[in-house]
Amino acid sequence: MRFHDLDPDRPLVPVTLDGQPVDLPDGANLAAALLGAGIDRFRATPVLGAPRGPFCMMGACFDCLIEVDGVTRQACMVQVQAGLVLSRPAGQVGT
Ligand code: FES
Repeated sequence: MRFHDLDPDRPLVPVTLDGQPVDLPDGANLAAALLGAGIDRFRATPVLGAPRGPFCMMGACFDCLIEVDGVTRQACMVQVQAGLVLSRPAGQVGT
């Protein structure tokens, strides 16, 4: 595993990603939590379809764009909450 939670005792809350249930650490940074869950492809580039995932983790690169409750947002700027509905652009297959 490339990433792990520094607070493994933090409770997990349910969210959905592309319609599939995923449990993430409550209150964690969403980009970091998804990376910790083994999900590292958040979107694809519009022209070539190259995979993109979090890079800067501070809101500068926009490589972590993901749809959160119907709104496209930077995952590194969002905290995990129970019930979030997350989706990646159609055709994006993540790990
Ligand atoms: S990782 Fe760069 S904006 Fe989120």
